[in-house]
Amino acid sequence: MTNRIVVVANRLPLRRTEDGWETSPGGLVSAVAPFIQEQGGSWVGWTGVPDDAPPPFVHDGIEQRPVRLTQADIDDFYLGCSNGTIWPLYHDAIRPPEFHRHWWYPYVAVNRRFAEQAAEALRPGDLAWVHDYQLQLVPGMLRRMRPDVRIGFFLHIPFPPVEILARLPWRRELLEGLLGADVVAFQTRLGRHNFSRAALRFLGGEGTTRWLGAGDRTVRLMSAPISIDTRRYASLAASHGVGERVAALRDELGTDRKVVLGVDRLDYTKGIDVRLRAFDTLLQRHREQADDVVFLQVAVPSREGVGDYAAMREEVEGLVGRINGSHGELHHMPVHYRYGSLDPEELIAYYRLADVMCVTPFRDGMNLVAKEYVATRPGNSGALVLSEFAGAAQELRQALLVNPYDVDGVADVLWRALHLPPGEERARMQALRRQVQRHDVFRWALSCIEAIRH
Ligand code: F6P
Repeated sequence: MTNRIVVVANRLPLRRTEDGWETSPGGLVSAVAPFIQEQGGSWVGWTGVPDDAPPPFVHDGIEQRPVRLTQADIDDFYLGCSNGTIWPLYHDAIRPPEFHRHWWYPYVAVNRRFAEQAAEALRPGDLAWVHDYQLQLVPGMLRRMRPDVRIGFFLHIPFPPVEILARLPWRRELLEGLLGADVVAFQTRLGRHNFSRAALRFLGGEGTTRWLGAGDRTVRLMSAPISIDTRRYASLAASHGVGERVAALRDELGTDRKVVLGVDRLDYTKGIDVRLRAFDTLLQRHREQADDVVFLQVAVPSREGVGDYAAMREEVEGLVGRINGSHGELHHMPVHYRYGSLDPEELIAYYRLADVMCVTPFRDGMNLVAKEYVATRPGNSGALVLSEFAGAAQELRQALLVNPYDVDGVADVLWRALHLPPGEERARMQALRRQVQRHDVFRWALSCIEAIRH
């Protein structure tokens, strides 16, 4: 493989430190970095800070090309059109998306800025790999600027059914933007099918669920479920430091108590409220067991400038207070809640500690937390309760699948997960681990890059 790769994503894989930069941990960067470090390439993205756009520089063997976002761009392109219009719309419209032209025009303008940076970074023969819902117009724009390069697009979130996409006043523009790529990839088969149907409906033309005609070109559609660096998670989980931290946490929480864990960005799509309600139901049904189980919920702050996120935080925190008020004792609070992020070792200690991992989104592109939990269970213990509406449910078939719209049903499954016969628990976990061992993020990146190249 000889092509340089130019990744175009909303965020650079970096964060500022006191004296420079550090690479932010993340599946995408760990998967793509080795390819770029070997063959050269660039990453076009935003630093996460308003008006912060230093000239291109090299960090960790990757040329970093910052794109400037002003405070107005953050308000209208990022919080507005990306996270107030497209995010809720693409997640089954579980919050009403807002449609404003004063958000849409900045979305177009910022996409053009990303495309221009990418066009400048691309040398003849390079591949452009554009990521996610914030940048759906970039493939089309880039195609016009650089007809000589091959372009791939990967959507990390779900692509909605045609009836939902239909609400978007700019549905044609987004579809045409995506069809500027040579390959458009989705997390699941459902996303690919939804996209194909929408393109045929709103743009006409020819195609199937595997390819679409776009003028004189053919665009390939593929499903490529993203994954994690499975080996890294497994080896960290087996490390001495994590082992010690698990023992200390166990002591703090009570050695005989079963631990149920939730870890999510605080987002209304994640169903944190559902699992807390289900836990409350379970405690009401089995009051005598309230002392035997503890629920840990880590909620990582996210998009706090969007009203629906602030409202969800209030709801979640209200629920935590209510459950502890109803079922807590002086010596034991059934829910431990933390609003903040954990460093990677602490997070893995939490995974190892958890007897049951609860992942209950109403809709999720993939959900890597589910895969991370599975990767950190060396003894095949532990149960994964997983929403059937997460992309991960297509692969992790041996999880205990739930419908997050059915709180009583989630409570039933939670109870079952806490009392799984050891043989069944091991068999399920072994099968789940095998899946994430075989399908890691490197395999995902390679399959996407190969598809873009040909
Ligand atoms: O799941 C979509 C996604 O954009 C991820 O790629 C990202 O890690 C996460 O949401 C957080 O998004 P933001 O950039 O808005 O903080």
